[in-house]
Amino acid sequence: MKRATRVGLITSGGDCQGLNAAIRGVGKALFQRVDNLEIYGMYDGYRGLIERDYKFMERKDFSGILTEGGTILGTSRQRYIPGKDIVDENGESVIPRMLDTYNRLGLDCLVIMGGNGTQKSAKLLMDAGMNVVTLPKTIDNDIWGTDTTFGFQSAVNIATNVIDYLHTTACSHGRIFVVELMGRDAGWLTLHAGIGSGADVILIPEIPYDLEKVAEMLKLRRKRGSGFSIIACAEGAVSVDETKLDEEASRRKKEQSKHSTVSYAIAEELERLTGQDTRVTVPGHYQRGGPPCPYDRVLATRFGAYAADLIIKKQYGTMVAIQHGEIVAIPLADAASKTKFLPVDHPMIQMARDIGICMGD
Ligand code: F6P
Repeated sequence: MKRATRVGLITSGGDCQGLNAAIRGVGKALFQRVDNLEIYGMYDGYRGLIERDYKFMERKDFSGILTEGGTILGTSRQRYIPGKDIVDENGESVIPRMLDTYNRLGLDCLVIMGGNGTQKSAKLLMDAGMNVVTLPKTIDNDIWGTDTTFGFQSAVNIATNVIDYLHTTACSHGRIFVVELMGRDAGWLTLHAGIGSGADVILIPEIPYDLEKVAEMLKLRRKRGSGFSIIACAEGAVSVDETKLDEEASRRKKEQSKHSTVSYAIAEELERLTGQDTRVTVPGHYQRGGPPCPYDRVLATRFGAYAADLIIKKQYGTMVAIQHGEIVAIPLADAASKTKFLPVDHPMIQMARDIGICMGD
């Protein structure tokens, strides 16, 4: 009898909507197309591979999970030393232990679903001799080489909905609302949700803000008869002054701040500058929860089925991506080498400016 094709599945890093849809896409396509198949689902991301904690998955495990949020396999974050290693709490490399599990199970390939950090770690596994195919997932949409990631659209829907709801109460009370959205490094989610919900100001990490200028715009709005204003602010937004600090000074400033997150500091300062009642809303992990939207279900299923195809064709060392509407495979080495920040000259930013949205500068 022909040797079984053995595949390991891993969901790693921060979760997002569509992970189960992707797991299902991989599993269903493999069971459909490969005769002698064994699939092992690693528990809690790379931890399962390190500690040999996994589940033998049957055909039925891939049913009934399309619309479920989170990941049926669990996830975790590992300590990653940029470009060099993945280590445990004692600083010891865990890659040999992962390779050991991989070899003991006789795996042909690992399908690794994750964000930026996970892609970089997957590249290290590839360099250590493991076959990998990765899928790009994150609400941040900041993975290089793909036009979008699954999870992103679902988070945009939630964040937009949060701001839609805040509009009515902001209007009733004539208040300013600062809504802090996820995105430490990239502003894709905040830009899309901000435009989609009609925010008046959008602050993203890629464009340092000047609150004097924001306050001028808010005062002008009031003068023109708009009694309330909404500011969509990425959690990683930084002021022009902060960009002048070195890493150490910036860390110290954050530690000493009395505010838990950036939007509280912004709200306090804007209240002072405008004299207008200001409130903060931080939806936080709510943006990563719940069922994937239909777009993400379809995208994750397409990515998953394509990953199965790559395994059948033995096209390892690749990340599945979507470019101009088409699903493609790109070298993992490329995807893992960069972060897809929002270009400051992106047409959507220009469009936002054209319709009068203040980008904080
Ligand atoms: O990368 C996804 C993300 O949700 C970011 O937007 C956010 O900054 C981060 O993860 C939060 O991480 P954690 O779930 O570990 O708090």
